[in-house]
Amino acid sequence: MSDFNKEICYITTPIYYVNDVPHIGHSYTTIAADTLARYKRFLGEDVFFLTGTDEHGQKIQKTAKSKGVTSKQLADSVVVNFQNLWKKLDITNNFFVRTTDNYHIKCVQNAFEKLYEKGDIYKGEYEGWYCIPCESYYSEIEIGSERLCPSCGRKVDMVKEESYFFKLSAYEDRLLQFYEANPDFVLPKTRYNEIISFVKSGLRDLSITRTSFDWGVPVPFDDKHVIYVWFDALLNYISSIGYAESRDEFFKTWPADVHFVGKDILRFHAVYWPAFLMALGLPMPKHIAAHGWWTVDGKKMSKSLGNVVDPNDMIERYPRDAYRYFLLRNVPFGLDGDFSEKELIERINSELVNDLGNLLNRSITMVEKYTDGVVEKPAAVSGDSLDAKAKEVFENIQRSLDIFRFDEALSDIFEFIRFSNKYITQKEPWSLKKQGKEEELKEVLYNIISALKFIAGVVSPFMPDTADKIFSQLGFDKSVSEYNYKFFTDFYSIDKTVVKKGDVIFERIEEEKKSDKKSKQEEVQKKKISIDEFFNVDLRTAKVLDAVSVEKSKKLLKLTIDVGEDKPRTLVAGLKEYYKPEELIGRTIVVVANLKPAKLMGIESNGMLLAAKDGKSLALLGVSGEVAPGAKIG
Ligand code: MSP
Repeated sequence: MSDFNKEICYITTPIYYVNDVPHIGHSYTTIAADTLARYKRFLGEDVFFLTGTDEHGQKIQKTAKSKGVTSKQLADSVVVNFQNLWKKLDITNNFFVRTTDNYHIKCVQNAFEKLYEKGDIYKGEYEGWYCIPCESYYSEIEIGSERLCPSCGRKVDMVKEESYFFKLSAYEDRLLQFYEANPDFVLPKTRYNEIISFVKSGLRDLSITRTSFDWGVPVPFDDKHVIYVWFDALLNYISSIGYAESRDEFFKTWPADVHFVGKDILRFHAVYWPAFLMALGLPMPKHIAAHGWWTVDGKKMSKSLGNVVDPNDMIERYPRDAYRYFLLRNVPFGLDGDFSEKELIERINSELVNDLGNLLNRSITMVEKYTDGVVEKPAAVSGDSLDAKAKEVFENIQRSLDIFRFDEALSDIFEFIRFSNKYITQKEPWSLKKQGKEEELKEVLYNIISALKFIAGVVSPFMPDTADKIFSQLGFDKSVSEYNYKFFTDFYSIDKTVVKKGDVIFERIEEEKKSDKKSKQEEVQKKKISIDEFFNVDLRTAKVLDAVSVEKSKKLLKLTIDVGEDKPRTLVAGLKEYYKPEELIGRTIVVVANLKPAKLMGIESNGMLLAAKDGKSLALLGVSGEVAPGAKIG
């Protein structure tokens, strides 16, 4: 055997059973792994990202029989559901393994034979409590007095059969030593402790073949037996990269950097798999990252409850980036999470539309308006606060992703986005323009565009479509993935660019029911906000220059207002029932100046005026002394 010469970062998902259609749980593991793979590529690493399907076993044989097809036919028809979904989600796996592929079968048989010859596998007789749907034996303690499967809750059967065993008990001490020397092997930490206690409670030899069904890899020298699914399945991680053929790739790729798994299959990956590898004389994977379980609206997902979330359906109704964002942002990796469409919509509207979309939109608009879309590196660049913040955020992102805390990395990125919005509010490019401070204005706009370039880079592993849309509006033709990460993290890497406004990157989603909307408004009103969030709202005084009634509208008046800018603005407001147009002319009112334009009765309204309303009457907010139009309120 050649020496190990690891060059390639190796990331895997579990291989999915083909007796189920893909649901949110499967998509979560795959999206997490894809995000890490994209992130590593972003850093310039060579990545091999593997996913696939687990196609053998009694359950699949039974399902196929009930459908009147062969097991292979069933697998062939279901595997496309996974492959198509991964395409739709833009998953960047380098290979798709199927356990019915020949190279895999050969690899499983080789490994089995090797361990048999070494004495790590021996023939015996197994008797135990077996759960057929879960294909697992359980101990007396696990099934309790009711004799129910601890995993699915169904009744277990006492089964006795001739079986080959793997000498797991012989690896107890070596496993414990390995865990002790590698405290980051299982992440998160709570799960690591769980695994150690399990091993310390004593390991029994593992039955790894079955004679009770035949849909599996046959034992090469005893074809009455098929190899039990977990020995078969786990070996996919080495069969796919050419272990059996001693391919160069194998030595460049193995050991895996991380196997992503759900908490339900952690034991197989953190106990059995390392023991198999020790027996084969292979190095250990670096990490097993175990995530929690998804429920839907607080309930366990199940076909009988009819609440299984189909990712295909979600990405038809929402942008796929929003779905990726929600899954990774909403739950700390490792903990259980609850999926609710209401929360998904809330995150789209508040974080993706308001924070990110608004930042891009207002920035590009300003650059087009003030410098004809051109942004150039100022002659002397000095450490700007956005540059310093970007450096700090990038370090945090790296730290978080080293331990698979996708949620934390996203929270840091969005903190930076809010920081950038605040920067605009504080620097007031519109005032710099008005005061004729052209050089300062250019520098501020350069910094804002550079901040957006940084954002395009760091969001790209999480939301690849969005990253490219931002990057294109910044004036770059290629995909983010075609640039070196340094271009995004070196703050002053843009020499010159010409921005070009595009469509909004995320559309606001209107909630369907009025009652939902009302309760959301109430929630928002009750929610406490930070001072930064408050300063994101640009409140200003404005003088009403003109007011006319909007034809055919019972409520609307069209105002022309002076907000201290070059040109007056148009604002449409529901005031007709309370004010005559002429009563408004000459008044100083208060407006939200940085609201996105909205069309009302075909007229574009730029801003919103503030008024107090008690159900019967309405009074406009004003100021008690003399101030110039456009005075900032804070
Ligand atoms: N075939 C085995 C894995 C073999 S890996 C060598 C298997 N397949 S599975 O299709 O049942 O599950 C695959 C993954 O989906 C697991 O990581 C599991 O945790 C995950 N999920 C299944 N349902 C889930 C949720 N409701 N929530 C989150 N993930 C869940 O196990």
